[in-house]
Amino acid sequence: MNERDVQTQWQKVIQRRSFLKGVGMATAMLPAGGLLATGVKAVAASGPRLTAGDAAILRFLAAAEIIEADLWQQYNELGGVDGGNPAYIAALQNLDGDMPQYITDNTDDELSHAAFLNAYLMARGAEPVNLDEFRRLPSTGASGARQVGRLTNLQKLIVDTSFYTRYRSEANPDLGAPARQAVNIVNEPAIPLNDTETPPNTEQPVPPTTASARRMQAIANTAGFHFGYIEQGGASLYTSMSVKVTDLEVLRIVVSIGGVEVDHFSVWHDKLGNAVSQPLAGVVDPVTGVTFPDLNNPGGELAQTNKIFPEPTRFIQGLPLVSVIRPSTTANAGAVATIKSFTADLLFQGQPKEFFARVMALAEAADSAKRRV
Ligand SMILES: [Fe+2]
Ligand SMILES: [Fe+2]
Repeated sequence: MNERDVQTQWQKVIQRRSFLKGVGMATAMLPAGGLLATGVKAVAASGPRLTAGDAAILRFLAAAEIIEADLWQQYNELGGVDGGNPAYIAALQNLDGDMPQYITDNTDDELSHAAFLNAYLMARGAEPVNLDEFRRLPSTGASGARQVGRLTNLQKLIVDTSFYTRYRSEANPDLGAPARQAVNIVNEPAIPLNDTETPPNTEQPVPPTTASARRMQAIANTAGFHFGYIEQGGASLYTSMSVKVTDLEVLRIVVSIGGVEVDHFSVWHDKLGNAVSQPLAGVVDPVTGVTFPDLNNPGGELAQTNKIFPEPTRFIQGLPLVSVIRPSTTANAGAVATIKSFTADLLFQGQPKEFFARVMALAEAADSAKRRV
């Protein structure tokens, strides 16, 4: 056995030990079938044990994906291809006929991101993330929703729509540009709350003609903006994390998943524009008063709905404008910034302080990771 073979064998021993530690002895002692049931194959990924920083980054990203998956599952139950709320689906399809398919596929992507990141953590000897104990928030009472505990609350959101103007502007928040909202969406549900105010089998004409149709359309429009908000956040988060990664395989994971978050954002950015252009523009929620104006009238650089590709922006001082993801700094796009933004969105409304302590600890660890060279 030469030196290289010894090293290879030793790495296998280390990886196996790490793997056992990562999944916990109870899981490790399961028969093969039981281990497979956890979704983890007993094959270690390449490379030695993760650095503490890389593990912290992947753990926070796993938490973020678990949170994303939870909210997307709620959208999917009501508005996906097998969704159970026809009026909600009809209102979403007023934005684009393919909305149910996109919702279902986005949901699948988030579930795969969460499962993969946790499996990878375990395969590299690190602890996975589990937030199941916080799945206690109530489901909506509207037709289609499974009555199970949730991590996230989509029933009364304050949606930050500044991404819409930010990506149309050359002003970059990383260089101090203030946020400017495109639409004021405050205390608005993004999923129907019950079958009384929004009966599931009502017509959703364009423009909506009844109070319940206007309410449902405002809810669907809010969902459209919320999809864009969530996914642009993912695009910024993964970008900010990528520069902290040490291991090349971890970097490949972060940029490869991050690219899909950008793809999601881009599609939603296009679809949500239909809520604020003719013939749908002008919907007013009869309950909250939230208004979806026609952003093409008068339009302009920061409002025109089909300007969905990122405008070149200020990026590096002294160099030309460039079309990039923004923000991308830790302060504005990092893990703590993400949790703060989700909290301000009211996405966690009803969660106990233990939940915030858990996710903030994960976020702070990820933000303090440093690339080791
Ligand atoms: Fe994701
Ligand atoms: Fe996502």
